[in-house]
Amino acid sequence: MTGSAAHAAQAAQSVLQPATATADSIFEIGVVLTIGAALIFLGVMTLLALSLRRRPPSRRPSRASERLWIVGGGVVFPVLVLSALMVYASVRTSGLTTRADLADGLVIAVTARLWWWEVRYRDPASGKDVVLANEMRIPVGRPLTLALDSADVIHSFWVPELAGKIDMVPGRLHHLHLEARQPGVHRGQCAEYCGEQHARMALHVVALAPEEFDAWLAAQAAPAAAPPDDLAQRGREAFLHERCNACHTIRGVSEESDLGPDLTHVGSRLFIGAGTLPTHRGTLGGWIADTQGIKPGARMPSFDRLDGQTLNALATYLDHLK
Ligand code: CUA
Repeated sequence: MTGSAAHAAQAAQSVLQPATATADSIFEIGVVLTIGAALIFLGVMTLLALSLRRRPPSRRPSRASERLWIVGGGVVFPVLVLSALMVYASVRTSGLTTRADLADGLVIAVTARLWWWEVRYRDPASGKDVVLANEMRIPVGRPLTLALDSADVIHSFWVPELAGKIDMVPGRLHHLHLEARQPGVHRGQCAEYCGEQHARMALHVVALAPEEFDAWLAAQAAPAAAPPDDLAQRGREAFLHERCNACHTIRGVSEESDLGPDLTHVGSRLFIGAGTLPTHRGTLGGWIADTQGIKPGARMPSFDRLDGQTLNALATYLDHLK
């Protein structure tokens, strides 16, 4: 398996495996709520069983004691328990989504799009933006802030091993703070129905050792690789000739539009189509020819009129953009 394929295969998505302090606190709240709810359920069922026992009329409870049970168990108890839980959960999650001082620390901007995730880094060397899609790499042991907004849709950002759910709403900026503890691949997905491609809205987060992360970001900041052979060169020409650049940017080739995902290093990503297919030449070609068959409703039309040679050249070129 290549590095990317191995990464893709490792990707896990489980609320039971928190990998950051942020996810730890959510996991802990979940455990407390589950155990608490189970104990209360047991208590209520025990009382129910007791109340159903047959008793002689002389031992029936008085009106006053009945009222005490109803007010005590039906009003006072839930108000106390729910208030305590609200305070506990608020304290335990305070600070996870506050607006950070964005001047220091690593900030990764994620923008919700129909139906994909745009991911944006600021390259520390050049100060320019590095734009990716549907995938994020983060350094282990460095606190970071995700700045989440939306262009044209409401998604709910959810990578359960890293953090809780948070809505991405046009016109609003939300924040999430987290710090990865160890290298790994974490799968996330949109957690709120957002239209016909809600199901194909996965996002992969790869946590890397800090030096590996720095090298990766520097590589992503570089312009697209030159085509290594004639076939890829023909693909590069087809990219422009077929006007793929009317929607997609490949830095160093064409930067006139950002309607669709930036493809500068598309070949280095684990998946295409927001987690729909693993990235390789075959899937890239299939995607271009039959976008609407693979992900109906996606904003990209199927380029089913391309001849086989052009399609092969285009897919080969894109696959080389590591
Ligand atoms: Cu975005 Cu569901």
